[in-house]
Amino acid sequence: MKGQILYLALTLAPLALGAQEEPEVITGKADAGRRLFYSAALGTNGLSCAHCHADFDEGAQDDGLIRAGHSLYGAASRPNWWGRDPSKPDPYPNIGAAAAVCVEHFMRQPDRLNAQQLVDLRAYLRFINRKQQRESLVLSSGADRTGEYLGYDAGNRLRGRELFYATCHSCHPNARSGIGSALPLDREPAFYARKVREGDGLGAQIGGLDPNAYNPASGQFMPFFAVDRLSNDQLSDIIAYIRSIPPPPPPAKGKAAPKKR
Ligand code: HEC
Ligand code: HEC
Repeated sequence: MKGQILYLALTLAPLALGAQEEPEVITGKADAGRRLFYSAALGTNGLSCAHCHADFDEGAQDDGLIRAGHSLYGAASRPNWWGRDPSKPDPYPNIGAAAAVCVEHFMRQPDRLNAQQLVDLRAYLRFINRKQQRESLVLSSGADRTGEYLGYDAGNRLRGRELFYATCHSCHPNARSGIGSALPLDREPAFYARKVREGDGLGAQIGGLDPNAYNPASGQFMPFFAVDRLSNDQLSDIIAYIRSIPPPPPPAKGKAAPKKR
């Protein structure tokens, strides 16, 4: 009963979700939260929320980029986050708390967010809540249960080039090192497919491959791309492109070898 009233209140007050959540001691500012959303200073590895989540309706305003995470447009009204059941004892109290997981996990910031940052970010995520999402996100990763990742070898490298720049370039600029590591160019298709579906191990864990796959001590942080973010065909195309990139030229005689590609 209480749940129904809450649901009704949420329906009637789209932009004032906070009223039903636990009272805030300090007030959040959406404009400060927006700056946080775009700021790599929040983490320790150069990533910002914007690297992995859109803050607009991707369906209506496709900007061509393919991000690992789903858009957070309207996400504040999801019943809960990270696959948690809101009626079970340990749901996230609000979307800010669910976002802090990414700060710690992907942005490698163990101190997470301070209290002011948390409410500011939450205020922004509520502000971008005009198109409400009434359903929880179904967490899936597309990890191959057999662990073999066969069938990723018939991609089209020309399409793959476009897709690479839309999906991977932000962290692997031109397949070289950036936020992520330099990509090897000559591995089997399964090698790339595994990394993209399993990421830092969280994808393997969520996909039911291995409950212990994600080990925070490994220092890894590549996000997994689920099938509803990047299809198997798209992934095959990207793999074909990476494998078609010519290896870098050997260092010229007499010159110092380039540091790291
Ligand atoms: C390296 C990529 C990455 C970064 C950076 C990142 N996230 Fe995420 N985030 C993900 C992935 C992957 C998921 C899993 C769910 C999905 O597919 O959207 C997720 C899930 C979430 C969820 C739960 C969604 C749900 O409904 O279950 C929230 C909320 C969220 N992120 C907010 C944020 C915010 C805010 C930031 C910045 C402070 C951030 N994330 C930074 C990749 C990232
Ligand atoms: C948000 C940043 C990010 C994005 C986007 C990203 N990667 Fe990564 N990637 C990383 C990081 C960081 C690593 C280093 C290992 C780790 O931390 O998990 C990595 C490692 C890899 C590796 C392993 C390299 C090795 O030598 O073992 C492969 C392969 C890879 N990425 C492929 C891709 C492909 C293909 C895409 C696009 C579909 C992509 N990545 C998108 C961050 C990213």
